[in-house]
Amino acid sequence: MLDYFMVINDLKVDYNKLDQTYNNIKWNKQKTLLYVNPLKSPVKKERDKQTLTWMQDDFWIHKPSPEDYEYKLVIDFCKQYGVYEFLSRNTINGNVLGPTWCRYGAKTRLGIHKDYSAVVSNGQSRGCWLAICYKGSQPLEWYDDDKNKVGEVTYTVLLSNALKFHLADIMNTGEERILIRTTFDQPYEVIRDRILKLK
Ligand SMILES: [Fe+2]
Repeated sequence: MLDYFMVINDLKVDYNKLDQTYNNIKWNKQKTLLYVNPLKSPVKKERDKQTLTWMQDDFWIHKPSPEDYEYKLVIDFCKQYGVYEFLSRNTINGNVLGPTWCRYGAKTRLGIHKDYSAVVSNGQSRGCWLAICYKGSQPLEWYDDDKNKVGEVTYTVLLSNALKFHLADIMNTGEERILIRTTFDQPYEVIRDRILKLK
């Protein structure tokens, strides 16, 4: 399954500290569309409007500040494992974007998809992300290009090849899911191999 994801056990997460941040978060409803249509190409005109609307209804984000525990946790890990230089950067000022809290509310309607958005909406991201799972018991399911299920993983910290089909099934479980996600500007394989080398 290493083509799809890599569980990261070396990043120890203090959930009591995350709770402190979580309790003070002021969520921002994400208006920027996530292009999640599982069957269509990332070409805008082919995107499924209904899916986009569903996502808009119940997707929220929060950007931690560099002083926050989870920001430092992720940045320190990336430095330690030689992938800091590959973190996605703001296309305007070049600053490292760092982690983002992502809340997929219980009303999220999301099917099997690839994270085209990471490629399309941010020119410096390549569909590879590191996620800390804060809330949500759904496994992350993985599918091949014919949409046959090839595996699933329940994780605390995961490096994902989001250009492979995947799904955390919020639609059918009705359970809110919250991740702290960080994207990279290099393909999954590059980040994975760098981390493996320094493990
Ligand atoms: Fe995704």
